[in-house]
Amino acid sequence: MASAIISGLLEREHYAADEIACTCGGDSTGPDLAEATGIHYLADITTALHEADAIVLACKPQQFATLSPQLAEAASGKLILSILAGTPLTRLSNTFNRARNVVRTMPNTPGQIGAGVTAFAPLRELIEKDTLIVENILGSLGNFHEVEEADLDAVTALSGSGPAYVFEFAAALRDAGVHCGLDEGLAESLAIDTLLGAAMLLADSGEHPETLRDAVTSPGGTTAAALGVMKAADFRGLIDRALAAAKTRSLELAAD
Ligand SMILES: NC(=O)c1ccc[n+]([C@@H]2O[C@H](COP(=O)([O-])OP(=O)(O)OC[C@H]3O[C@@H](n4cnc5c(N)ncnc54)[C@H](OP(=O)(O)O)[C@@H]3O)[C@@H](O)[C@H]2O)c1
Repeated sequence: MASAIISGLLEREHYAADEIACTCGGDSTGPDLAEATGIHYLADITTALHEADAIVLACKPQQFATLSPQLAEAASGKLILSILAGTPLTRLSNTFNRARNVVRTMPNTPGQIGAGVTAFAPLRELIEKDTLIVENILGSLGNFHEVEEADLDAVTALSGSGPAYVFEFAAALRDAGVHCGLDEGLAESLAIDTLLGAAMLLADSGEHPETLRDAVTSPGGTTAAALGVMKAADFRGLIDRALAAAKTRSLELAAD
């Protein structure tokens, strides 16, 4: 995710490579990222922080406790932007208790290609300068929305975990196509292009999904036959229960 943010920031020319530095834990991800993008790598980044305006936390949530205490000290007066799933603002601001402000975000994996969507919640109202920094950083991953922190568990259930539901649906379409007699490679290709084309049409048209669904559903036709099976199996109820389970799990993880 850090690599995706850096690539997006450099592509959009929000910052020059020379203005960005990264660090990492015990392996070579930091030096590798620096070599690939031209940004600085510092094993101990605290020394460079007096010049920094913002710090993006992009380690795994379970690695948060391993961050150096000197980092929190050096982050005094800086803007902290965290992409750590399920790590509440209270926990972030307890560690970074002298930060200028703290922003908790929930991005998703299409951010790797600039096609993500992120929701964010700041600890305190953002000053103008920080709004711009947050928009630059999150804009490098795709679209973004400001929400209340209490909404982030539901956001996690919808857009955070959502790409996995779409991948699962793509796999189900492929397998069902194979059961209908298609070659697996062709079925996968048709499934991907159908999802991509339908999502692009949906975004482009500005219509509700139900309107576009009805436009391709002739009474007594093939689509109606398939949708009838989905309705009888309570497809919407299934998705409802899936999101509720993801939201419950997100709340449990934040409480750990
Ligand atoms: N992937 C997603 O779709 C997604 C979506 C929403 C939110 N997120 C959040 O994004 C975050 C990153 O996910 P990811 O998949 O990109 O993880 P990742 O590939 O494992 O990257 C984590 C990075 O943090 C570094 N790190 C670990 N401990 C550190 C420490 N003490 N000090 C400095 N750096 C340290 C790691 O360095 P080493 O490799 O050297 O240990 C690594 O470069 C997670 O918090 C996740 O919850 C991810």
